[in-house]
Amino acid sequence: MSNQKRDSFSGKFGVIVAAVGSAVGLGNIWRFPYIAGENGGGAFLLIYIFFVIIIGIPVMMSEFVIGRRSGSNAMGSFRKLAPKTSWWLVGLMGIIAAFVILAFYSTVSGWTLEYIFQAFKNSFSGKTHGQLSNDFNNFTASSFHPILWQIVVMAITAFIVFRGVSKGIEKASKILMPLLLVLIIAVCVRSLTLPGASKGLEFLFKPDFSKITFKVVLMALGQAAFSLSIGMGALITYGSYIRKDTPLLGTSFQVAAADTIIAILSGVMVFPALFALGGESTGGPGLVFITLPGIFQSMPGGYVFGILFFVLIFLAALTSTISVLEVVVAYFKEDFKISRLKATLIATISISILGIFCTLSFGPLKNVKLFDKTIFGLADYVSANILLTFGALLIVIFTGWYLGKSKFIDEVKLSCKVNPIVLNSIVFIIKWVAPIAIGAVAIGAFFIKDLM
Ligand code: PHE
Repeated sequence: MSNQKRDSFSGKFGVIVAAVGSAVGLGNIWRFPYIAGENGGGAFLLIYIFFVIIIGIPVMMSEFVIGRRSGSNAMGSFRKLAPKTSWWLVGLMGIIAAFVILAFYSTVSGWTLEYIFQAFKNSFSGKTHGQLSNDFNNFTASSFHPILWQIVVMAITAFIVFRGVSKGIEKASKILMPLLLVLIIAVCVRSLTLPGASKGLEFLFKPDFSKITFKVVLMALGQAAFSLSIGMGALITYGSYIRKDTPLLGTSFQVAAADTIIAILSGVMVFPALFALGGESTGGPGLVFITLPGIFQSMPGGYVFGILFFVLIFLAALTSTISVLEVVVAYFKEDFKISRLKATLIATISISILGIFCTLSFGPLKNVKLFDKTIFGLADYVSANILLTFGALLIVIFTGWYLGKSKFIDEVKLSCKVNPIVLNSIVFIIKWVAPIAIGAVAIGAFFIKDLM
């Protein structure tokens, strides 16, 4: 497929919005609170922010540069920029990561649809934290509805991806993201004004350094990669739709900042309320689904808020699922030279089949375990902590050492003037700091038992 025929984002704002749409999703609202809750709260947050800065932003810049320079999909871009080498394997790993992520991500996106429905029916009203927790467990263990919702999610995602980049992805994100922010802030205000809320704030913002273990460091790195959508080529693919006049560095900073702010706000939304309502920070994947209905109940206008909020979480999830599916579809379409429709159908059906196993692992398959994890738990753990982390490592090594400084700078300079000191520091971080940091965590993970 020639470059001229490729769809592209309409401009600078369109790119930021779509990349923020990809980054902001269940990773921030659902995964961040539950992982931070299980891994030490404040101490986790600190390490998380550190990784966003020294690894997240450099990898994001590298992905945009690789994507825009090659004008190709996650796998094709490595073939174009590094012909006759094995670098395409990084792209292949990204495609595999996309499969695994979407399989369990669609399960959780499906839960948000059920919760929209329950919010409509006012089913949270008058329930204690314990009752809400039972409801969540009963629902996720029942197989039929969770699978139904999951398929609905996959079908909507497929429809938007089929419509293409500027018409579907960009338009949807532009409206939804700002609205989500407003609602999150409103829910934060309620959570913070509940009696006993300060304990939650302390949990999130007062680091207890004794809680830092190697596992906490690994989980923080995985969460940073997952939340920023880096390490699997989603941003390479989006990068290939970025016009040459769009500044890549500024875009990366803005996307990372927006994503981190939403993650922290999600923590502010969840933890004060959780402690006020008597829940446990180690509540696992159900944390947000159990805590939020508790907040809505004690909010003026909570009924309407509950509905709106779950609608928006669902939509935030959707702007992420489309970016994951797009990785696979762009690859199928360009490498196998098939139509967008065919590529979308093949990808959607195969991922949905894998996804059903993730969904069933809360019910009939809950005893099927590997490394003491269910299928869902394994997909969640492996995608963030192994596939994306390793992908991020290879991407910075590729950019810093194979592509090289001059090509990186050439690409960046196409769209903006950057102070040479800033540019050299960024190159230094991509070449040395980020790979050494990820490498150190990876080597450590290899030697320490009991990480899973
Ligand atoms: N970043 C997305 C989220 O936070 C998830 C995602 C991961 C999307 C990897 C694309 C690639 O929800």
